[in-house]
Amino acid sequence: MRLAVYPGSFDPVTNGHIDILEKTSKIFDKIIVAVVHNVSKKALFTLDERVALIRESSKHLVNIEVECFSGLLANYLSEKNACAIIRGLRTVADFEYEMHMAMINKKLMPGLDTIFVMSDSKYIFVSSSIIKEAALLGGDINGLVPEVVKKGLEEKRRQLNL
Ligand code: PNS
Repeated sequence: MRLAVYPGSFDPVTNGHIDILEKTSKIFDKIIVAVVHNVSKKALFTLDERVALIRESSKHLVNIEVECFSGLLANYLSEKNACAIIRGLRTVADFEYEMHMAMINKKLMPGLDTIFVMSDSKYIFVSSSIIKEAALLGGDINGLVPEVVKKGLEEKRRQLNL
């Protein structure tokens, strides 16, 4: 059983993330999307909301599970008996941070590798942060996020009276 973990904040999940999942779900037997519970980072969506949005957006993929994790990613991977970490790479700007993360994770869990996947070029500029900013300011984010995420962002905009 080739089990990989796709970790991240997913605040919220974008079509770029889903594209990575569609590609990697063909390579691995099972993928756990692991949503980080990071108390020091203020998120727009709650942990439960983020999990629900990913579940809804990835329901067309049969080998995907969505969970939360806290603490060290390497410990979580070891607990799950995973063989790889999946991370998306957009541009060279992502590279340095991702390389450092891959190196510390390799040091903490030597048997494990990070697999980098490039998302489709149409999502190269798409990040959760840019999506949140555009959506909360009333910008058109059609085609960049799943429909359920678009609705969720519209609801947040209403709640925040923006
Ligand atoms: O979507 P993000 O915010 O870029 O994801 C970052 C994430 C969650 C993958 C990273 O912050 C992480 O792995 N956090 C858990 C703590 C950890 O293991 N850090 C790396 C070793 S110090």
